[in-house]
Amino acid sequence: MDIDVFTLFPEAFDWFAGQRHVRNAIAHGLRLDRVSFRDHTPLSGGQVDDTPFGGGAGMVLRVDVVDAALRGHYGRDPVELREDRRILALTPGGRLLDDALASELAAEPSLTLLCGRYEGFDERIVEHLATDAVSIGRYVLAGGELAAMVLCDAVVRKLPGALGDETSAVEESFSPALEGAPEYPHYTRPAEYRGWSVPDVLLSGHHGRIREWRLEQARRRGSGGANPLR
Ligand code: ADE
Repeated sequence: MDIDVFTLFPEAFDWFAGQRHVRNAIAHGLRLDRVSFRDHTPLSGGQVDDTPFGGGAGMVLRVDVVDAALRGHYGRDPVELREDRRILALTPGGRLLDDALASELAAEPSLTLLCGRYEGFDERIVEHLATDAVSIGRYVLAGGELAAMVLCDAVVRKLPGALGDETSAVEESFSPALEGAPEYPHYTRPAEYRGWSVPDVLLSGHHGRIREWRLEQARRRGSGGANPLR
């Protein structure tokens, strides 16, 4: 898979790109590129944003800058490009990222992420240059970079080779294997600590009963029966 992240702060992704699971995925064929809007702006002085028409606080990422950046990087009109490639604008009001969307995106051959800044995007970017608007939650971040990293993380860990144990992304919270429920609780050594013991079934060695118990726990958590987060 190819992922290109368009941003005003390419260096913000250095830490993310160095994480073990991302490096693993890169070793298995992932390409993660960062593209600076500033490197492609047609405006003088590296300008990329402007004040909103109609007034109000903050700055808005300009449509001509994003158009030029996409065109400069891909050598094609982005309006045509979006017929062949998912171009995701990270924005608080977009489609909420969940496990199903992460799986859908992990199945794509390539993704382009657009990170807005300050007050976000000129709406024409979302309407005419992007294919999707994606949100990581109904709150406003200072920019799309953290949101892009969250999305990349959720997608990349589903790619072959990202996680050491290939089964670990299959049976995890919200996956179809757990009927969309949060994951069952995990325990490790010591089996007894300060009088807090591990459920007997997990020490029983009965794989069938362990599976049943885990699915039951996941279902209970999913129905709000035993919310560990309260
Ligand atoms: N940019 C700013 N806030 C965001 C959010 N909650 N989700 C996606 N992109 C954003």
